[in-house]
Parts: sequence; C-alpha cells; structure tokens
Amino acid sequence: MSDKALNQVSLDEFKRLSAGEKAPYFVENGRSFHALVAQQFSRPMLEDLCSLATCVRRIAKTREGSSFLQSRLFDKRAMLYFAQPSTRTFLSFDAACQTVGLDCVNVRDSSTSSEVKGESPEDTIRTFSSYTDLIVMRHPAGGFAEEIAWMLSNTSRPVPVINAGSGKDQHPTQALLDVYTLERSFENTGGIDGKTVAFVGDLKRGRTVRSLAWLLTKYNDVKIYFVAPPELQIGEDIIAYLDGAKVSYEITGDFERVIPEVDAIYMTRIQDEWDIDNESSLIDTSKFYFTKDHLSLLKEDAVIMHPLPRRKEIDVAVDRDPRAVYWRQVRNGMWIRSALILSIFGCDAKVRDYYKEHTS
Ligand code: NCD
Repeated sequence: MSDKALNQVSLDEFKRLSAGEKAPYFVENGRSFHALVAQQFSRPMLEDLCSLATCVRRIAKTREGSSFLQSRLFDKRAMLYFAQPSTRTFLSFDAACQTVGLDCVNVRDSSTSSEVKGESPEDTIRTFSSYTDLIVMRHPAGGFAEEIAWMLSNTSRPVPVINAGSGKDQHPTQALLDVYTLERSFENTGGIDGKTVAFVGDLKRGRTVRSLAWLLTKYNDVKIYFVAPPELQIGEDIIAYLDGAKVSYEITGDFERVIPEVDAIYMTRIQDEWDIDNESSLIDTSKFYFTKDHLSLLKEDAVIMHPLPRRKEIDVAVDRDPRAVYWRQVRNGMWIRSALILSIFGCDAKVRDYYKEHTS
C-alpha cells in the first residue's frame, strides 16, 4: 500500500473514495498517522502492534516500567470526544492514555459543547484540536471521522484522529483488540492463520464485525461463517471483498451446525438503536444465543468472544468456562490502544528497546 497525502486531495475527491481507497491516506511510512478504517492495517502493521502491546503489558507490571511508559508522552494531551454512548472503549482509551503519560480531556455529550449554540461539529472538533495533540472520536455518522482527519491534515498543525466507532460502519480499534485476543489465544496453536471464525448476531449493523472481517482477510487460509437471520446478514460490500480476496466464507442461519466447526465464535448483540420502526423486535434472534449446553459442542481449544455490551446472547453461566475470553478482550483493549498511540507518536522503538533491556 503506497502512502498518499491528505493535503494533496480535495475534500470532494476524498469523500468519493471507498474506505479501502481512503486507507493509504491514513498511513505514513508504514505507520498509522490517523487510525480510521480497518483496511489501513497491513499484516506487518498488525503484527507490530500486537508485539508492542505485549511489550507494554509486560513493562507496565513494575513500578519502574510504568513510570518509563508514562514518561513517553507526558508532553502531549488527548481529547476523547464521544458523541455516542460508550463504556469500555472510552475507559480503555482513557486508561491507555494514562499508561503512556498522555493527559486526557473529554466531551461525552455534545449538549455541553458549543454545538448547542449552532457551531458546526467540524468547528467544534477543530477547536478541540487546538488544545490537544490527538483526537479520539466516536460518532454516529459513518465517514465523519475520516472527514475530520482530512480537515485536520489540512491545517498548519495536523493532529492525528483515532476512530473509536463510527456509525454502523467501522470500529477499527475494537478489531485490533480482537485480533490481539485471537493472537494470544492461538499463541500455541499456530496463530490466526488457518483458523475458522464464526460471527453471530447482528452482522448487518455491527461495526465491530465489519472491521474484524476486514482484518481477518490479512491472514492466510482463514474461513469465516456469518451466522444470522437473513434480515441481519453481513453487508454486500464485505462479501464482494471476500470474493475478490478469495477468502473462504459461508452465510448460514444454522448456528448449532457451525459451533463444532470453529476455532472462535464472535457473538454480538442486536443493534436496535438503528431501528427505524422497532423492526428487529419482530425477528426471532433466540436461535443465535450461546447457551451453557452449547459448551459441549465447542472444540476444546476454541474461544468465545464478544465486543460487549451483551444482553442475552451469551448465558452468564458461560463466563466461567475457560474458553470464554470476552473479559480478556476488555483488558487487551487497553494494551493494544496504548500500543497504537505509542506507534502513532513514533515511540515504539524506545519501548521495544526498554523491553529488551529490562525483561528476559
Ligand atoms: C461495540 C460498539 O460500540 O460498536 N461496543 C464496544 O465498543 N465494545 C459493540 C456494541 O455496542 O454492540
């Protein structure tokens, strides 16, 4: 993927590009400057982020290591702008910023900013960027974070933008933590290559599924099952890409048949906040719940994942099974987001050197 400069393309031209065509604009010399779409991460970039996350995780275990990490970015500030509800993504970005020493300010409710006085969201975010060195944003409008990145790259002081969830579209840092969790889970069984993953639930509107599906295409011989009622099946754009990339997949409504086949099950909730007329309440989704009885069908070394929040789609009795890794995903989010921030600011080499010197 050759890098392209955001200040050499007009906003109109840029807006006409697909997410995949935009991806090279967010990368500089093999490293993300902005982190906005899953398509921008190559396999080497994913491997680098995962290994850096492991360095951070291990360095942070000691007091001396924590203070080394905190001195990396003590001279920088981040703005967490969340215009949609969030628990884990917000808290893990906040924790990640603290881990690497970035001071954080946040706006979690647009009604507390000058947007209520009629200021455009673009001007509001440009204002945030004047006081800070990084914008982490979650917004209901798909593609909006990308436009903000274009805008901020066309100022005299470009500020990186991280997409913490955009509409029904993308959630690239969730996909990074999912890949990190898969990597760690399959550490002793050959990694993600050759594995079979089932996505279950609301695949049409689940942005975590969409972003992770893109990232899985970077691995060899992965097979994907998309398990959902027809109304909530995965989008045509993902299918077209998988066809083009010759990734093997199957679309099905038969959850129980799939369970024994897979190495990872990725459960999701129904994203009914996008309903227009309560339409998803008419769909019987109970066939797509993972129950205690399903545990006996699952391979011994498989994993059960969920981006959370969950409703009824995973029985709480499943939590105690060692194959349930969704609470590990939550913690992995903090490490991979720390790694991403360090990498955006070019601090990765120093962290790796420290790791080599201080851990065996
Ligand atoms: C997800 C999201 O916001 O898309 N949550 C998260 O960030 N872990 C999934 C969801 O809300 O269902």
